Amino acid sequence: MLAAQVIGVGSYAPDRRVDNAELSRTIETSDAWIRERTGIGERRIAAPGEVASDLATAAAKRALEVAGLKPNDIDMIVVATVTGDRPLPATAAIVQRKLGVTNRCGAFDLAAACAGFVYGLGLGNALIGQGQCRHVLVIGVEVLSRFVDWQDRTTCVLFGDGAGAVVLGPGAEEQPPGISGVHLHCQGSMSHLLTIPAGGSERPASEASLAEREHYVRMEGQDVFRVAVKELASACLSAIDAQQLKAAEVDWVVAHQANERILEAVAQRSGIPFERFFRNIARYGNTSSASIPLALDEAYQHGSLEPGSKLVLCALGAGIAWGSCVVRWHLPKPTPRSAAGP
Ligand code: ACO
Repeated sequence: MLAAQVIGVGSYAPDRRVDNAELSRTIETSDAWIRERTGIGERRIAAPGEVASDLATAAAKRALEVAGLKPNDIDMIVVATVTGDRPLPATAAIVQRKLGVTNRCGAFDLAAACAGFVYGLGLGNALIGQGQCRHVLVIGVEVLSRFVDWQDRTTCVLFGDGAGAVVLGPGAEEQPPGISGVHLHCQGSMSHLLTIPAGGSERPASEASLAEREHYVRMEGQDVFRVAVKELASACLSAIDAQQLKAAEVDWVVAHQANERILEAVAQRSGIPFERFFRNIARYGNTSSASIPLALDEAYQHGSLEPGSKLVLCALGAGIAWGSCVVRWHLPKPTPRSAAGP
């Protein structure tokens, strides 16, 4: 099976920045508490009327530009999200329309929460490897600001809005595989740890569910923290072991940006130095499925990635679902024309 590689990357974040000081004017919190416990300084919040497909389309356009492809060159659109425009249809269908893709390519959403982008990469890699698709657009997008309870200080300070996208294409046979060592896992017995209780078929919207504020994210923070450290560290090691790489050979770990303390602990457990963990959580907070492609694009635009760079991607979130893979970067550094970060 021929492995896929990343041939384009892009991201988009809404203009509005909400810093910790602004939050502390509406809920009982402080910049010091949020920074010390999470590493977050500010987050981006979508403008009224700005929806997931808008963010996703903006990120996808940038990724297509870097790839030098036209919208109709895409054979499959995968949108990883848990905060799509509507329950029906898939946000991917709306993105297809907004991008101007008229070739009737497949388009669907993938719900694996914060792990969604890594799941999407694994899937795109398989579709290309089996010869079913040539170019797969994998997008991670969230507008979590519409699903957090802005009266609940234990969750609302953590999340932000954003989108990131990659275009996958077939790798060259003479090069090391662009995507490899894909590991995808879920432990459904922990699904209660992070959930939005109402709004689905189990508990449809009702006056009672609205009064109980059950349409918002609820989380057992400390339990999620513990499982995140354990499983992310072991997922990083599984991915690099599968490729016979040593921790010292990893150039960058581009991990889901949930909490800086989680990343520190994962570094300690995995033996990969913390300086190799790319971090932008201070400026975006936790953007769930968008966080890895946002970070990848930022690393690319800053010139931190070059052909031959060996990356480990890993993420964990609601489900509890998690995943990891090794990405060998083959894209040349950006030219000033294509430099267009979020
Ligand atoms: N501001 C001020 N005080 C706060 C805030 C806040 N925003 N939130 C909670 N507190 C208070 C609590 O009420 C508690 O007060 P008490 O001691 O008087 O009861 C105190 O701070 C300590 O609360 P803890 O919950 O023990 O704080 P902890 O150190 O565990 O940090 C946090 C909480 C940041 C949520 C942490 O558990 C965490 O990061 N968990 C991981 C969860 C996560 O990242 N989820 C995202 C989705 S899953 C993923 O992406 C991996």
